[in-house]
Amino acid sequence: MSDLQRLLKESWTLVEEQQDKLAGYFYARIFLNHPSVREMFPVTMDVQRARLLGAIVSAVQTVDDPDRFDEYLRSLGRDHRKFQVQPEQYEVVGAALLEALRAFARDEWTFEYEQAWRDAYDVIARKMLAGAAADSNPAWWHAEVVAHERRSRDIAVFTVRPLQQLEYRAGQYLSVECPQHHPRVWRTYSVANAPRTDGTMDFHVRALGAGWVSGALVRRTKVGDMLRLASPMGTMVLDRRSTRDIVFVAGGTGLSPIKALLEELTTFNRTRWVHIFFGARDRDDLYDLASLQQLASAYPWLSIVPVCSDDPGWGGEEGSISDALSRFGPWLEHDFFVCGSPNMVRGTLRTLTQLQVPQTRVRYDAFSDV
Ligand SMILES: Cc1cc2nc3c(=O)[nH]c(=O)nc-3n(C[C@H](O)[C@H](O)[C@H](O)COP(=O)(O)OP(=O)(O)OC[C@H]3O[C@@H](n4cnc5c(N)ncnc54)[C@H](O)[C@@H]3O)c2cc1C
Ligand code: HEM
Repeated sequence: MSDLQRLLKESWTLVEEQQDKLAGYFYARIFLNHPSVREMFPVTMDVQRARLLGAIVSAVQTVDDPDRFDEYLRSLGRDHRKFQVQPEQYEVVGAALLEALRAFARDEWTFEYEQAWRDAYDVIARKMLAGAAADSNPAWWHAEVVAHERRSRDIAVFTVRPLQQLEYRAGQYLSVECPQHHPRVWRTYSVANAPRTDGTMDFHVRALGAGWVSGALVRRTKVGDMLRLASPMGTMVLDRRSTRDIVFVAGGTGLSPIKALLEELTTFNRTRWVHIFFGARDRDDLYDLASLQQLASAYPWLSIVPVCSDDPGWGGEEGSISDALSRFGPWLEHDFFVCGSPNMVRGTLRTLTQLQVPQTRVRYDAFSDV
């Protein structure tokens, strides 16, 4: 751990238990001094759901090597154009962050801590600003919902057509807003198809508990509704130069980017064997199995292993997706793509380490909240 990293972590422990109050103070500093910034944020804002502070704290703490995160931060900056963030507002947010930390750490706050947070925030902000400045694409795209299908109680598969061309790569994700239902609330969703000539894009979404955007996309969105989409992000894309066979590991709607990667493979692959482990709690949640099986009958290089973790009487593979992977190995010569809930992704990565799969062969996206 670098010195910077140590200082950031150490100082965060001073305020960690007062996170909610600190967040309240942080937003109040911004909104009182700069009331126009309030209009960028969701109409209803409670501190637990507010995402900016948490996002900055985790970015600052995990970015020990800003060069490694260069592309992520640049694309985050491009994406932030959807909020119409002005460059000088980065200073406003940075100053509020430092004021909040200082106020809650009180006497324990030191000059060194102050400098560490200031430096880390500045590096991140500079990269985000550079990403935003270098992008000549629209800050967002309006897109019409052209098909919408409920596949299970909680899952919908729907298609949108952006009104202007939106370039992305199979495997990427982007922020989506349902302006009719939750204006200014954006959440990321993976595109579930490889780019098409008509520009349409599929999404697979699971409604989570009382989740705002996922609930609206699954239960309230209809054909003809307009959504907004922001800049594509993410690096879980195919390396076309690799000749290794591929294992896709998808938990629930984590299938979405994997379906896009698979579609891209159907356009050129002849030589690489491809296995998909598609895991869900029960049969009902294997919401796209029929379409995967159709692809498997058209492409001899493709095989599908559906896995249910909690479905007595289901005749197929049972248990966690990690157990199934271990049963089918060894996988020493494969490229891996993993996508699903944070728990599922963590479990799979642990299993792959145990199975001695080199980390450099594994790409993943976790559906965390932020
Ligand atoms: C890179 C990336 C790609 C993503 N792609 C997809 C995708 O293709 N498809 C998809 O469906 N999702 C995807 N997600 C997840 C998505 O971005 C949202 O986090 C999710 O839809 C919840 O947003 P929301 O506004 O509905 O919920 P919010 O309003 O943000 O609230 C979520 C609330 O639900 C609660 N909650 C969290 N998890 C659960 C749970 N498992 N059960 C019940 N309650 C819970 C929490 O308490 C939280 O308060 C992706 C996430 C990331 C980071
Ligand atoms: C280092 C600087 C910053 C980082 C790392 C950062 C990161 C993030 C991330 C990861 C999210 C959640 C994903 C999303 O909703 O798109 C987010 C949300 C947001 N950010 Fe930033 N951001 C930064 C600076 C700013 C600035 C300067 C503004 C403008 C005032 C801003 C405005 C917002 C808004 C309005 C949201 C949505 C908040 C919500 O939904 O509760 N961000 N930020």
